[in-house]
Amino acid sequence: MQNWSFNDGVARLSRRSPVTGEVAGERTGSELEFVRELGGLLLMHKFAVDELLTKLRIWSEEFDYAHEHDPIEHIASRIKRPESIMQKLRRKGLPVTLASARDHLTDIAGVRVVCPFVSDVYLIRDLIRRNGMEIVQTKDYIAEPKPNGYRSLHLLIRVPVHLSDRVEKVTAEIQLRTIAMDFWAAVERKIFDKSGGAPRPEFSGELKAAADAAADLDARMKGLHELKALAREVVPDGIEGLGGEELPAR
Ligand code: GTP
Ligand code: MG
Repeated sequence: MQNWSFNDGVARLSRRSPVTGEVAGERTGSELEFVRELGGLLLMHKFAVDELLTKLRIWSEEFDYAHEHDPIEHIASRIKRPESIMQKLRRKGLPVTLASARDHLTDIAGVRVVCPFVSDVYLIRDLIRRNGMEIVQTKDYIAEPKPNGYRSLHLLIRVPVHLSDRVEKVTAEIQLRTIAMDFWAAVERKIFDKSGGAPRPEFSGELKAAADAAADLDARMKGLHELKALAREVVPDGIEGLGGEELPAR
């Protein structure tokens, strides 16, 4: 999920040159009208992402300080581009209108949270739930991976956006995964998205085996994490080879 500048995106998708303000002739009048109308909706979703990012960053620092463990490795976010919104509405056979985008698309605001351990994924899920954001849908592809091996926890949440005169609840999609899951997903996307469509059957086994290796890595890292916690409890300053001095963070 790439970071995406809100204004640049609207300009690009309306085919309006940010320099001259000229509009290229490829869009039909109704498409341009749609992109113009979309501005307010996209802004609300940007606010939802902003609210969510602030909370996530606070928890990340708070846990690092209080528990000497930061449950978040990194965060990425994006607002869906008008171009992709139009494509998705068409793909779903829905009218390309503002009302249709607002009522049917749940992934206009997208946030991906990458965590060191599987337990951190569920910790962040619990923190979201406990802090005023309703979870309206859960797809747990960690408990039940997709047939290709994809693992992640997907949540649809309602984020309260505090405007000057009211609070609006905006839907956002959060994908939570470990570093190992993220590595697999990023590379899988690179290999198979660009070549177009589903992988050939002879690749599927290898892909699934790679996902299993990533899951095994998560399990082994969990073991190490628990061992280190145990070592801290037994000998607070650490025992040789387990606690003590750590390499500085990157
Ligand atoms: P749409 O929202 O209509 O695309 O389908 P959906 O809601 O059924 O999709 P789902 O919640 O399963 O997945 C949504 C997003 O998760 C995708 O846009 C990807 O970012 C990610 N994702 C899902 N499956 C895969 C996968 O097999 N590989 C990778 N790399 N990413 C995936
Ligand atoms: Mg979806």
